[in-house]
Amino acid sequence: MAKSGFLLVFDISFILMLSLCLGSAAANEDRKATLPGLEYSPSSHHISILQDVVKSSSVANLLLRSFKRSFNGFAANLTNEEAKRLASMKGVVSVFPSKTLQTLTTRSWDFMGFSETVTRIPAVESDIIIGFIDTGIWPESASFQDEGFGPPPKKWKGVCKGGKNFTCNNKIIGARFYSSITTQTTRDEIGHGSHIASTATGNKVKNTSFFGLGQGTARGAVPSAKIAAYRVCNRIGCESMDILAAFDDAIADGVNVISISIGGEGAITFHDDVIVIGAFHAMAKGVVTSNAAGNNGLAGLQTVSSVAPWMISVAASTTDRKFIDKVVLGNGNTVNFGGNFVARLAGAVGSIILEEMFENLAAVVALPACALNKSNYGVIKSYQNMTKKPEAGILKSEVIEDATAPIVANFSSRGPNFIVPDILKPDLSAPGENILAAYSPLGTPAIDGADTRHVEYSIDSGTSMACPHVAGVAAYVKTFHPDWSPSAIKSALMTTAWAMDQSKSLGGEFAYGSGHINPIKARDPGLVFEALEEDYIKLLCSIGYTIDQIKAISRDINSSCPPSSQNVPPKDLNYPSMTALVSSNESFTVNFLRIVTNVGLANSSYKAQVSPNPSLKIEVIPDILSFKSLQESKSFNVTVTGKSLEPYSMVSASLIWSDGIHRVRSPIVLHIPPGK
Ligand SMILES: *[C@@H]1O[C@H](CO)[C@@H](O)[C@H](O)[C@H]1NC(C)=O
Ligand SMILES: *[C@@H]1O[C@H](CO)[C@@H](O)[C@H](O)[C@H]1NC(C)=O
Ligand SMILES: *[C@@H]1O[C@H](CO)[C@@H](O)[C@H](O)[C@H]1NC(C)=O
Ligand SMILES: *[C@@H]1O[C@H](CO)[C@@H](O)[C@H](O)[C@H]1NC(C)=O
Ligand SMILES: *[C@@H]1O[C@H](CO)[C@@H](O)[C@H](O)[C@H]1NC(C)=O
Ligand SMILES: *[C@@H]1O[C@H](CO)[C@@H](O)[C@H](O)[C@H]1NC(C)=O
Ligand SMILES: *[C@@H]1O[C@H](CO)[C@@H](O)[C@H](O)[C@H]1NC(C)=O
Ligand SMILES: *[C@@H]1O[C@H](CO)[C@@H](O)[C@H](O)[C@H]1NC(C)=O
Ligand SMILES: *[C@@H]1O[C@H](CO)[C@@H](O)[C@H](O)[C@H]1NC(C)=O
Ligand SMILES: *[C@@H]1O[C@H](CO)[C@@H](O)[C@H](O)[C@H]1NC(C)=O
Repeated sequence: MAKSGFLLVFDISFILMLSLCLGSAAANEDRKATLPGLEYSPSSHHISILQDVVKSSSVANLLLRSFKRSFNGFAANLTNEEAKRLASMKGVVSVFPSKTLQTLTTRSWDFMGFSETVTRIPAVESDIIIGFIDTGIWPESASFQDEGFGPPPKKWKGVCKGGKNFTCNNKIIGARFYSSITTQTTRDEIGHGSHIASTATGNKVKNTSFFGLGQGTARGAVPSAKIAAYRVCNRIGCESMDILAAFDDAIADGVNVISISIGGEGAITFHDDVIVIGAFHAMAKGVVTSNAAGNNGLAGLQTVSSVAPWMISVAASTTDRKFIDKVVLGNGNTVNFGGNFVARLAGAVGSIILEEMFENLAAVVALPACALNKSNYGVIKSYQNMTKKPEAGILKSEVIEDATAPIVANFSSRGPNFIVPDILKPDLSAPGENILAAYSPLGTPAIDGADTRHVEYSIDSGTSMACPHVAGVAAYVKTFHPDWSPSAIKSALMTTAWAMDQSKSLGGEFAYGSGHINPIKARDPGLVFEALEEDYIKLLCSIGYTIDQIKAISRDINSSCPPSSQNVPPKDLNYPSMTALVSSNESFTVNFLRIVTNVGLANSSYKAQVSPNPSLKIEVIPDILSFKSLQESKSFNVTVTGKSLEPYSMVSASLIWSDGIHRVRSPIVLHIPPGK
C-alpha cells in the first residue's frame, strides 16, 4: 500500500483536487488496532476522513473515486467550506481544482526507415502491453483483431470491463472506462483513441486509405504488442480525476508503456498536475510514459504543456507525404495549392480562404475547402476581380511528396520549459502531420463536426498523433532491453534522434528537443544517461518544492531533501540533453555534469566531438571515455563559455560521443528567458 495519497474533492460548482500526505502508516495502525481482524480498506479509510469534515451522516455517496492500487487517495464531492476544512487537516498539503483537459501512418514508419521487415523479437514483443489513456478504442477495427495472438502475458493483472457490447480479445486485453464521463463504455465514439492505439500497436492492415488518400498498409510500431484501453475522455474533454484513476489502474494492471495524448493549456506547477503525478508513479514502477507536447505552438515560445523530466514530451513534425488540393478556375486555369484547411462557412458549397498558418496541414472538413497562401490567394482574387461570373472548383485531394520533411509543425507547442528552464522540452519530435490510422465509424473525421461520412481509417494531425509513435518505439526498444529503466529507454530515443535543421523549424531545439525519433538507431544507443526516482526528487528539492509538495508527487512518506548545500542544480540532472538559463547582457560560463552507462560493446572507447558554434567555446573533460565492461559508468564535465546573449535569445550546439559505431548526441542549449 502506498504511504500517502491524493484527494480529488468536488465542490458543488467546481472540482477541487487536494493533495495530501496522510501519514497513513500511522493512520493504518490506529484503524487496525480498533478493528482487529479487518483488512485495511482504502475506501473505508477515505470515508472516515470524509466523515471528519462533512457534517452529514451519509458520506458514502460523496466519495466519487477511491484510488487504491498504485496510489492511495480519493475524489469526493464537497462544498468549498468542507474542502477548506479538509485542507486544514494535518498532512494535507495543497488544494487545487481538478480540471477538464483536452485530447490533443502508414507512411510515417517507412519515412523513418522503420520498414515492415525490421528486426524484431516476436516472442518478447507479444508480451509488451501499451496502455492508452484516451477516448477508448473501436474493438472491431481490423487494426485490433487478434488472429495469431496468444493469451495475455502472465504478468497481466488487468480486466476487460469495457461496458455493454464490448469484448476484448487477445490483442485488446484490457478495457476500462471512468464513470465521470457520461458514456458507460470503452467503445471509442470519437476516433482519437483508436487512431492513437493503431499508430503505436495496430496490426498490419493492407490497402487502407481515407477515400483513396494515403493508400497503403497501415501498421503500428509493434504490431504484436497488446493493448489496454483506458477511456477517460468524451467529446468535451477528459477529467483529471479520471486520468489519475486510469494511471492508477494501468500501472497496477501491468502495462509496460503508457501513451497519453492529453494535455492542458500550459505547465504551471507539478504537484497539481495529474499527468505529472501519474507519470511519476509510472516511472517509479518502471513504466515509460509518452505524452504529447501540446498544440499551442502558434501562440509562440514557452507553450509546451508537458515538461516533467520523468516523461517523454513529444513534438509533432511533418513526413514526406503532403495532401494538397487543386483549384480549377472558371477560366480553365488549374493551380496547385499547398493545403486544404478551412473553417466551415454557413451556406457555402465550398470555400477558399487565406490561411497561411495551416498551409501544409491537411484537415478534414465537411465541405470542399482549400486554404491558400498569400500569393496563391492573390491569383484567385485577381481572377475574381477580372471576371463577371467567377467560378472555381476544388478537386479531390491528392498526395504529393514533401522533400522538406521533417519540419516541426507550427501548431506543435514550443519550449522553453516554464517550470524548469534548465530541462529542455519537448524532448524529441515524431510524425504528427497528416497521419492515417484506424478510426471509429461513429466518429466524424471532420474537425467541424458537420461531416456525415463515417470511416474506418482517417487522417489526423496533432502532437496527439506524434505521441503514440514514441510510445511504440519505446515499446520496440523495450523488446530488446526488457530490464532498462524508463530513463534509459528515453535516453536511447533522444541520443539517437536525427539532428533537425534549426533554420527550418521555428524555435530550433525549443521545437524539436533532441531531434527526430530514429527507431532503428534507438535499439542500440551505445551509452545511456540514467536518472532514478531519487534524482527527480533532488531536482524538485533544488527548484524550491516543499517536502510536502514533493510527497504529493512521489506518494512516498519517506521522501526527503538533502541539505540545501548539497542541492543538485536542475542543469545537472543526468538528462540526455543539456540546457541552462543564463542572464542577459553578460558573458557566461556554465558547466554540465553527466554520467553515461555503457550499454553498447563491453570494450569500447568513446571520443567527444562538439558541433562548432562560433559564439560558444565548449570544453569536455575528459574527452575520451574508455569502458572495459557493460553497465560500467563514467562521468564527464562540459564547460560552455559564451559572450553575452541578446535578451530573449538562445544559442545551441551539440556534443556527440562516438566509438566509431554509435553516436550519442546531446543538444546543448543556452537561453535567455523569452517574452510571451
Ligand atoms: C455533487 O453534489 C451536488 C449537490 O449535492 C450534486 O448536484 C452534483 O451532482 C454532485 N456531483 C457529482 C459529480 O456527484
Ligand atoms: C455492438 O456494437 C457493434 C458496433 O457498433 C454493432 O455493430 C452491434 O450491433 C452491437 N451489438 C449489440 C448486441 O448491440
Ligand atoms: C483497395 O481499396 C480500394 C478502395 O477501398 C478498392 O477499390 C480496391 O479494390 C482495393 N484493392 C485491393 C488490391 O484490394
Ligand atoms: C505558395 O504556395 C505555392 C505552392 O502551392 C508555392 O509555389 C509558393 O512559393 C508559395 N508562396 C509563398 C509566398 O509561400
Ligand atoms: C509555419 O509558419 C511560418 C511562419 O509563419 C511559415 O513560413 C511556414 O510556412 C509555416 N509552416 C508550415 C509547415 O505550415
Ligand atoms: C481586387 O479589387 C479590389 C477592389 O477594386 C482591390 O482592392 C484589390 O486590390 C484587387 N485585388 C487584386 C488581387 O487584384
Ligand atoms: C519509511 O521509513 C520507515 C522507517 O525507516 C520504514 O520502516 C518504511 O518501510 C519506509 N517506507 C517506505 C515506503 O520506504
Ligand atoms: C547592458 O549593458 C549595457 C552596456 O554595458 C548597459 O548600458 C545596460 O544598462 C545593460 N542592460 C542591462 C539590462 O543590464
Ligand atoms: C579492447 O580494445 C582495444 C582497442 O580497440 C584493443 O587493443 C584491446 O585488445 C581490446 N581488449 C580486449 C580485452 O578485447
Ligand atoms: C567542471 O569543470 C569546471 C570548469 O573547468 C570546473 O570549474 C568544475 O569544478 C568541474 N566540476 C567537476 C565536478 O569536476
